[in-house]
Amino acid sequence: MTSAFVLAPETTIAVIGAGRLGTVLAGALRAAGFDVRGPLGRTDEAPETDLAILAVPDGAIADAAATANSTKTAHLSGATALDAVDFSIHPLQTFTGTEPPEVFHGIGAAVDGRTDDDTQLARDLARALGMTPFTVDGRATYHAAASFASNFVLTVLDTAEQLATAAGVENPRETLAPLVRQTVDNWQRGGANAALTGPIARGDEATVARQREAADDKALFDALATATRALKDRA
Ligand SMILES: NC(=O)c1ccc[n+]([C@@H]2O[C@H](COP(=O)([O-])OP(=O)(O)OC[C@H]3O[C@@H](n4cnc5c(N)ncnc54)[C@H](OP(=O)(O)O)[C@@H]3O)[C@@H](O)[C@H]2O)c1
Repeated sequence: MTSAFVLAPETTIAVIGAGRLGTVLAGALRAAGFDVRGPLGRTDEAPETDLAILAVPDGAIADAAATANSTKTAHLSGATALDAVDFSIHPLQTFTGTEPPEVFHGIGAAVDGRTDDDTQLARDLARALGMTPFTVDGRATYHAAASFASNFVLTVLDTAEQLATAAGVENPRETLAPLVRQTVDNWQRGGANAALTGPIARGDEATVARQREAADDKALFDALATATRALKDRA
């Protein structure tokens, strides 16, 4: 009979992948008191550990899992199935590789496991890093939500920055940031429909047409304007 895997300070954890998340995660696991190896690069031999966390691109998870030398394996991907690992923890945050260990405190983490014990292990590890674990029904749907909340927001903000620069605004990011933050605060409090202001919310299509004329990327403008009209009309 195999005994249940119990997470403890003496648990040895290998972090495989020394990129954006692997670097930050290894530091945070150390700060949480675990015995950590890594982050390990692709030329490092996988050490024998209790747990290997694969912080590699989604497409490299199966290969990294095959060379891991651990009792349990986990990945950090929001969209990838559990075929190659025992469990998954997807921290719902964006990591560039320079964040301090505290970046995990208070954020959510989507967890999943092959067995109930594995899911519990994922929950325990998430909590040990200060995250709040939750489960989702559709991993791809959940991950699409994360991309809309982070990646696509950046695409929109970059367009705003370019237009502000073209209009002669000095320090466009600093100047636009308070507007962005207030918008996010309003959305968090009451949802997008209640937070929506501006010419589309006012039904001022003449102003929308002037904005469209000024915008370089008409396809992006039209797609967002159409979606924003639908948002305004939503009960
Ligand atoms: N960054 C985020 O904001 C974020 C947030 C949540 C979840 N995640 C998840 O975290 C995982 C890693 O993402 P990331 O953004 O940290 O990617 P990343 O910055 O591209 O880093 C991936 C690292 O893995 C290395 N690698 C690739 N194959 C390997 C192998 N077989 N063995 C050892 N190392 C290998 C790469 O090395 P080379 O440079 O040599 O290719 C690179 O250093 C992904 O599953 C992603 O979905 C990321």
